[in-house]
Amino acid sequence: MIEGLLKGKSVVITGAASGVGRAAAELFAQHGARLICADIAMDLVEETLVAVKAIGGEARAVRCDVSKKSEVVAAVAAAVEAYGRLDVIYNNVGIPSPKTEQGMMAKLTDTTDEQIQKLYAVNVNGVIYGCQAAIEQFRIQGGGGVIVNTASVAGLIGWGGVLYGSTKGAVVNLTRTLAIEASGEGIRVNSVCPAGMATRFITGDRGPLPDAALAGMAKAYPLGRVIDPLDTAKAALFLASDLSSNITGVNLPVDGGLSAGKPL
Ligand SMILES: NC(=O)c1ccc[n+]([C@@H]2O[C@H](COP(=O)([O-])OP(=O)(O)OC[C@H]3O[C@@H](n4cnc5c(N)ncnc54)[C@H](O)[C@@H]3O)[C@@H](O)[C@H]2O)c1
Repeated sequence: MIEGLLKGKSVVITGAASGVGRAAAELFAQHGARLICADIAMDLVEETLVAVKAIGGEARAVRCDVSKKSEVVAAVAAAVEAYGRLDVIYNNVGIPSPKTEQGMMAKLTDTTDEQIQKLYAVNVNGVIYGCQAAIEQFRIQGGGGVIVNTASVAGLIGWGGVLYGSTKGAVVNLTRTLAIEASGEGIRVNSVCPAGMATRFITGDRGPLPDAALAGMAKAYPLGRVIDPLDTAKAALFLASDLSSNITGVNLPVDGGLSAGKPL
């Protein structure tokens, strides 16, 4: 078991209150990171802090709506204030496609302007603001630094809601193009691309999915297992750490083989 992959590193995680963000907060803390846990759900983010502190980790919570640039800048500033610098930003927040009243994915033609703008404000602008704020800080520190984004397998193949997939496609290509642009400053930019996970993203406030639903999800993946938020957090840890020090511009599927193709 490799230990201390983020020892002493100052890390901002957005969407740290739940799902992948919480799993990443716990895993990164186990590896010695000092965390700013940014989210809009302050009651839930407090639970993340309790979990991190229970394993001896260091973390502070910041209220941050990633669709507001000033709040993302403030989250990075909080890392600098608390830990003296920023080493890694994990831009992890994402919200799903709008649903119909029956809980089905809304068709593109049934989607309102307001819904389109909200999805792009959070899923795309939120990542852009995180990248901008981090790079500004990395420059002040003299270069270097790591950006990890959470995209989705929906950004790699046609899968899931149309609008959601389009926002994640934007994150995938932002990751590639920014990796090239920022490479001269020693900044690495990669993303993780998970498939469906049974987090609040899917369940909302309805609580855990029944076993039958989980078994149905598992069948969609060649490896036959539901994707766990921790699977995604482990991929993010790899990309955040020096294990991937010569890797940039990669969108790493965490999808049990889903995007590799269909079995014959
Ligand atoms: N769960 C899935 O099936 C799935 C699949 C592929 C990709 N993803 C991506 O994984 C990432 C994490 O999702 P998750 O499954 O952990 O979902 P989640 O709903 O469990 O967690 C998302 C977190 O983001 C926070 N959040 C929402 N809007 C915000 C905003 N404007 N500003 C700040 N925080 C905000 C929520 O409060 C929550 O804590 C997202 O980018 C999502 O698009 C999820």
